[in-house]
Amino acid sequence: MNIAVIGTGYVGLVTGLCLAQVGHYVTCIDIDTNKIDQLQKGHSPIYEEGLDKLLRENRQQKRIEFTTDYDMGLADKQMILLAVGTPQKNDGSADLGALFSACRAIAEHLSTDVIVVTKSTVPIGTNERIQDYIKQHAVNNNAVSVVSVPEFLRQGSAVQDTFHGDRIVIGGENTEAVETVAEVYQPFNIPIIKTDLRSAEMIKYASNAFLAAKISFINEVANLCERAGANIDDVSRGVGMDKRIGNHFLKAGTGYGGSCFPKDLSAIIAYGRKVEQPLSILECVQRVNEKQMDILAGKVSKRFRGLKGITIAVLGLSFKPNTDDMRNAPSIPLIQKLIENGANINAFDPAATETAKTLLSDKVFYYETIDGALKGADCSIIITDWKEIIDYPIKLFKKHLARPIIFDGRNCFSLKIMKENGMEYYSIGRPAIFPIS
Ligand SMILES: NC(=O)c1ccc[n+]([C@@H]2O[C@H](COP(=O)([O-])OP(=O)(O)OC[C@H]3O[C@@H](n4cnc5c(N)ncnc54)[C@H](O)[C@@H]3O)[C@@H](O)[C@H]2O)c1
Repeated sequence: MNIAVIGTGYVGLVTGLCLAQVGHYVTCIDIDTNKIDQLQKGHSPIYEEGLDKLLRENRQQKRIEFTTDYDMGLADKQMILLAVGTPQKNDGSADLGALFSACRAIAEHLSTDVIVVTKSTVPIGTNERIQDYIKQHAVNNNAVSVVSVPEFLRQGSAVQDTFHGDRIVIGGENTEAVETVAEVYQPFNIPIIKTDLRSAEMIKYASNAFLAAKISFINEVANLCERAGANIDDVSRGVGMDKRIGNHFLKAGTGYGGSCFPKDLSAIIAYGRKVEQPLSILECVQRVNEKQMDILAGKVSKRFRGLKGITIAVLGLSFKPNTDDMRNAPSIPLIQKLIENGANINAFDPAATETAKTLLSDKVFYYETIDGALKGADCSIIITDWKEIIDYPIKLFKKHLARPIIFDGRNCFSLKIMKENGMEYYSIGRPAIFPIS
């Protein structure tokens, strides 16, 4: 099928390339000329494992093209995917400005009957509005059917998730359009759930809200473990082995971040308020997460009796490993707080440094290696559990740091190894380790 994807970010680019890989002809459209320039030259503007290979192969096979030109991009397409951002507004609700601007472009360039598939995460009722909006602004009488196919990929494993997702949700009021979308996705061989538009929209928000709740839950238990003298790693394992609970998203840490959980939680909470059905559990989930982001700064400050003048090697900046994405990364408020309180920051990240430079204080020093960031620092804070950081030899922490002290926000290392290496080690939900003197 000839498909257009509007919005060539994490979701749009990955979806476009994966659809091309299973044999469709895809045109990705974006208003960001820089991004499209890079893609036209064969370079991916984002970091995702497997993406470069897909880009290379599908450009060679002429199954994918990139443009900023809606005229060319939408011509002769039977299906148009909407994958633009839906960021958070000041009041917590979703900003649908980019989405409706893309819908306007669809309406103005309509030349055949099309199915519009919404991949962007949108509040309940939005797909009905999209249907009405395009109809109202359409330049001719072509039929438009809006179908909701919410996206569940995770950054860091986006390609793998697209080919091996748990389910594909297809919501729509037009049965024929729903069946056509199901055929397009059939080569992925993933279970498909067909439903109405509003339920599809709700499935996406309810899924993210549940996962965020699991994270805040285990973080609260972790904080309790510290007071109780228990070990959250064992507690998580023991709890997660119960099949009714499951072991995913039970890893204690410095809280969730990223481009989805914070904004999607805010949006569903805002929607609940609007329809006078407040979501009190989710309001708590948000509060717990905000508090959790402060935990490491508090531990460092307590250990050094203040932060003024100390140098901290911060390892990992992206909101999670295997991505260069810094949106709502816990590293941002943490580093801001450390700097405000007088600390000097040496930072290392395998992929997010360039983005970080545009977001963090210009007082941060960036290093290309972990060695460089650690050299002479008073302690190290680990925020993102990149493999490079987990695999970094403990003896090198000891060699390069001025004092052998680690604050680990992701519980990367075993307490036993820290003890054996004579490190002073603070993690989340586990007893602190002090060198034997
Ligand atoms: N990133 C994820 O992990 C993820 C997972 C599931 C769902 N989602 C949802 O998918 C949507 C997209 O997220 P993302 O992370 O890919 O966003 P992104 O910011 O990476 O990409 C959005 C792209 O849309 C482009 N754009 C904006 N307005 C446009 C317009 N009028 N015409 C053409 N292009 C336009 C931007 O330039 C940008 O390249 C959001 O609603 C998000 O909540 C994201």
